[in-house]
Amino acid sequence: MGELPEIHKGLDGVYVSESTICKVDGTAGRLYYRGYPIDDIAKNSNYEEAAYLLLNGKLPNGAELEDFSSKLKAERELPDKIINIITESAGKSDPMDILRTAVSYLSIYDNDTKTQTKEANLKKAIKLIAKTSSIVATIGAAMEGRSYTKPDSSLGHSENFIYMLKGKKPTPDEVKPVEMMFILQAEHSTNASTFATLVAGSTLADLYSAVTAGISALKGPLHGGADEEALRMMEAIGDPSNTEAYINDALAGKKKIMGFGHRVYKAYDPRAKIIKGYLLTLQQNPSAEVKRLTEIALRGEKLMIDKLGQTHGIWPNVDFFAGPVYVSAGIKVDLFTPLFAASRMAGWCAHMIEYWEDNKLIRPLELYKGEIDKKYVPINDR
Ligand code: CMC
Repeated sequence: MGELPEIHKGLDGVYVSESTICKVDGTAGRLYYRGYPIDDIAKNSNYEEAAYLLLNGKLPNGAELEDFSSKLKAERELPDKIINIITESAGKSDPMDILRTAVSYLSIYDNDTKTQTKEANLKKAIKLIAKTSSIVATIGAAMEGRSYTKPDSSLGHSENFIYMLKGKKPTPDEVKPVEMMFILQAEHSTNASTFATLVAGSTLADLYSAVTAGISALKGPLHGGADEEALRMMEAIGDPSNTEAYINDALAGKKKIMGFGHRVYKAYDPRAKIIKGYLLTLQQNPSAEVKRLTEIALRGEKLMIDKLGQTHGIWPNVDFFAGPVYVSAGIKVDLFTPLFAASRMAGWCAHMIEYWEDNKLIRPLELYKGEIDKKYVPINDR
């Protein structure tokens, strides 16, 4: 028998493509969108500009940003059928299932799905980014018994998201954290959901099919679903004084603490640092709920870093501090992962469009461990 091939479980450490979209420096804990450090983008930019940068490879000038923003605005409306799907299923199904179905359904309204030019795909990307945000807002509104709010073209992307979610114009305190999360979650190289997008798209299926695969992969708690689980853990801890006992018990029971650890970062996730920094700015005048959650988060962070940070390279990731920040903006826990998807739509589309420039079907191998040449036994003889 020949030498056995090396298996990279979970594709750990395997490079599958070249890209100029995003660099994750897991050792130094740095992240770059098209070469720009994430701290600069988060501080100076907005989601529209970040999405433009990811899709087009350069920062837009004033006219280009204006044009891109108005194209997004023009695509915000949802077809009635999709609004009906959302209102009929909200409260009965997982919001990520509704989102996956609604985004998949969007393709029905695009008679250009099969055109695979870069230009046509950039147009689809704008549609998907604009409409996914509207879908998530409408899911959130429907879960709280509110009907569809028509988008407002005088508002920016994040502001309009909150407006459609809550049915009223947002305050700056609501917009700031949502805008920040939209920017920070827009892209993160070949993570599980982006890879799922590429796998589907590498067959030359269309962009809608590809990003629907991305949404499916994002749902799980090891990936995008971790932000919800982290907040649910904070809720289960209840009083901040229970934090250490709760986490120690969970670790003793070999449970993972959601919002910690990363396949690539073996240092503090720079996005988590930015989110934590924002959370600390809220502490001058926090609501009782945000104060309590922040105290739990800070105690949990300290314990985990003391126990597993330096020794095991397990640090807070983007999902850990996201919950208290969303709570400060009045976003309900069920909507965290859908909102992650609405933001990541920019990254998924950017990657898919880049990959198609030099497409290669993704088709890895598996090492077959079963028997061969077994004798077929007719059903009546088994
Ligand atoms: N809490 C406790 N132990 C952990 C954690 C954690 N959050 N993460 C990893 N470990 C331990 C794990 O139990 C394992 O220990 P041992 O070697 O003793 O069996 C070791 O660290 C390696 O973990 P792994 O799961 O095999 O490593 P991975 O590279 O496959 O894991 C991960 C990456 C993100 C799946 C994992 O860290 C995890 O499950 N974290 C919790 C879920 C989470 O927060 N996910 C969001 C990731 S960031 C957002 C995104 O981009 O998706």
